[in-house]
Amino acid sequence: MDATTRPARDNWGSKLAFILAAAGSAVGLGNIWGFPTIAAANGGAAFLFVYLLAVALIGAPVMLAELVIGRRTARNPVGAFKALAPRSAWFVVGGMGVLAGIMILSFYSVIAGWTMAYVVKSASGEFVAGADTAAIFSGVAGNAGTSIGWHLAFMVLTVLVVIGGVKDGIERWTKVMMPALVVILLVLVARAVTLSGAGPGLEFYLRPDFSRLDGGVVLAAIGQAFFSLSLGMGAMITYGSYVSRKDDLETSAGWVVAFDTSIAFLAGLIIFPTLFHAGLEAGEGGPGMVFVVLTSLLSTIPPEPWGGTVFGVLFFLLLLVAALTSSISLLEVATAWLVDEKGVSRKKASIGIATIAFLVGVPSALANGAVPWLSSLPGIGMDFLSFLFAVFGQYALVLGALLISIFVGWVWGVENAAEEVRSNDGKFSFERTWSFLIRFLCPIAIVSLLVFLLWQQLGS
Ligand code: PHE
Repeated sequence: MDATTRPARDNWGSKLAFILAAAGSAVGLGNIWGFPTIAAANGGAAFLFVYLLAVALIGAPVMLAELVIGRRTARNPVGAFKALAPRSAWFVVGGMGVLAGIMILSFYSVIAGWTMAYVVKSASGEFVAGADTAAIFSGVAGNAGTSIGWHLAFMVLTVLVVIGGVKDGIERWTKVMMPALVVILLVLVARAVTLSGAGPGLEFYLRPDFSRLDGGVVLAAIGQAFFSLSLGMGAMITYGSYVSRKDDLETSAGWVVAFDTSIAFLAGLIIFPTLFHAGLEAGEGGPGMVFVVLTSLLSTIPPEPWGGTVFGVLFFLLLLVAALTSSISLLEVATAWLVDEKGVSRKKASIGIATIAFLVGVPSALANGAVPWLSSLPGIGMDFLSFLFAVFGQYALVLGALLISIFVGWVWGVENAAEEVRSNDGKFSFERTWSFLIRFLCPIAIVSLLVFLLWQQLGS
């Protein structure tokens, strides 16, 4: 397929607009609480070091591979594989991505809905000293009506952006939200690192403990890198499909990866000083840490009496913005598929997919206390939300990334891909390194990760 058969389609207004949108997809809940807690539990700065290697050697090459597939074909993931490998089963990889996007959106929206509730709660000053934050959390997440209501509200916000299309929806809103996210993040970092207790918090987060490093930690870093960079399900194929032939894919991929990694690192500079400010240990990660432990500290943030309210609102706003710029990319994948392949209008497609994701998300909204068996699935021992995350946020992405690297490295071929990377200015600085990584290191590392995940699951 050559440039002349590349279908006309809405493009990003500029290279910067694309970088902001793709970074918006990447920076999400996975950065703000995922990365810091995994890092702290796995050797601090030693983990950071391993994570940086995983991102550079495995995440970045797969990111470039997805962007290349997208821009070459100017299609959604299903159409892209059909265009590059006609009369083969490769389109199934795109189909898996569309499905994974809907499933991830379903539970992502539930958690993002809680962050909306928490913006309101912090603004109304609910987190006063001595507030029972565990009870407040179960009042939101454990109450069927509240949890589903906020899940619906967040899904509506997501659709409102995606309905607008690439330029007037996604680009317009990410151009506002990403700078806001960076400003809020920096304000919170400045506040957190100057709290009393910041020193021990930072030490806990960053103390390099190389004795913790083993194969499992390396693989955890790779898995976290895929989720955090939005890889393996075609989000970057889809966003890449809107990149103009004038823009440089190689440097864009570099910027997105650097942006995502910096934000993940900075989030830890907020979380750990804040936890240690009140003399708490980090304990378990995930929603419990953010919604229960962290909120119990908000009221103690100086200056009194407004510090807690202001920084609390900012923190949940940060989570909300990060989640929204990610959820729109999740919805865009399936929307683009319906628009390109089935000729459905963007409006009908985005509302239809969001409705399905909303309904599929209902059991997740009930899985934190509202319905006991969903909160601890019989025979699985996980709640429904965590189960969906494991299947679609981990396995599906890892498998998707494996198939994408095999496809680009061995089936469609690195030569064709390199030609697309060079198409704007004739340059591809890391061509030889990238070809080696995508053909050899990525598949081998990802297969090890899959085997490890399965083995861990069977063992537990
Ligand atoms: N990267 C997002 C995060 O870190 C999650 C995501 C995964 C978004 C896959 C889109 C696709 O939260």
